[in-house]
Amino acid sequence: MSNKDVVVLGIESSCDETASAVVINGRNVISNVISSQIDIHREFGGVVPEIASRKHIEVIDSVILKALSDANMDFDDIDLIGVTYGPGLIGSLLVGLSEAKAISYAKGIPFVGVNHIEGHIAANYLDNPELEPPYVCLVASGGHSHIVHVKDYTEFQVMGKTTDDAAGEAFDKVSRVLGLGYPGGPAVDNLAKMGSANIEFPMAFMQKGNYDFSFSGIKTAVINYLKKHPDVSLADVAASFQKAVVDVLSYKLFEAAKDVGVNVIAIAGGVASNSGLRKRVEEMAAEYGFKVYRPKPVYCTDNAAMIASAAYFRYERGYVSDLHLNAVANLNL
Ligand code: KG4
Ligand code: ZN
Repeated sequence: MSNKDVVVLGIESSCDETASAVVINGRNVISNVISSQIDIHREFGGVVPEIASRKHIEVIDSVILKALSDANMDFDDIDLIGVTYGPGLIGSLLVGLSEAKAISYAKGIPFVGVNHIEGHIAANYLDNPELEPPYVCLVASGGHSHIVHVKDYTEFQVMGKTTDDAAGEAFDKVSRVLGLGYPGGPAVDNLAKMGSANIEFPMAFMQKGNYDFSFSGIKTAVINYLKKHPDVSLADVAASFQKAVVDVLSYKLFEAAKDVGVNVIAIAGGVASNSGLRKRVEEMAAEYGFKVYRPKPVYCTDNAAMIASAAYFRYERGYVSDLHLNAVANLNL
């Protein structure tokens, strides 16, 4: 470590993961601790906000202390705290933000509030020293589906977004109708591997120059198809649904990059760990002669290393938050 190195402690609690990480200079992950509440929410078929915030309070101290001890560090080694302050579940966000403020005040460490979506984008910088803006990034998670022109580390232009369900939400809903449970993405992904994509499901907004998404139609189409064809192979339905979603996401991502004249693309968010999407963007990148970045699967779903990275790049540009910062449930990028 050199004197100029910035050691960042990341804190993330916007949904159902309590996470903390230590990252140096926005790229080098030293520790990454994620405590997932999935098993608790599974029996309800989705995240219960009141339970989520209570569970965050129970584990956040130990998650942060583990991130420090895994890094062989204590608070004195930390130069900056990065914390998610939106968008997300308000009660959950407040747990991480209050914790960050308390540590900042008690230890005299500056902190930077981070937009969770910006964090997902920054996941691409982790372990990828050569990636620099500009590029176009697809952010597809349980709450968001955005195509973003990343002009600089802290400068974004949203080129398109979903007009109804997010891509991950569509996976979760289709998983439920297929009887696969919560969370749906990994379950549908696994079942899709055993089927063939021989059913045509609708792909919305495929006109040139339109980078918005709509995923509620395809969910309804899957429900109707299952009603009409009760004996269909569920693996074929999963494979066909996944192919339709992946084709829309990747087509629009590459069209958007061509539109703004960049040949570097990235994917981010929980859906970016989908095996079909990862394969498709690789194929298209080879076809188009584009460079493609994909975070490791563990950095696609919610984590604090990505938050620490985004905080570093904000701090480098002079941003610091103060103790008046509040959580914002519907924060825009
Ligand atoms: O980014 P994330 O962890 O949380 C949000 O910010 O929303 O994303 C979670 C979403 C869930 O909807 C989950 O079903 C989806 O990402 N997901 C996947 C896969 N793994 C997680 N979707 C498709 N394929 C996957 N392998
Ligand atoms: Zn997320």
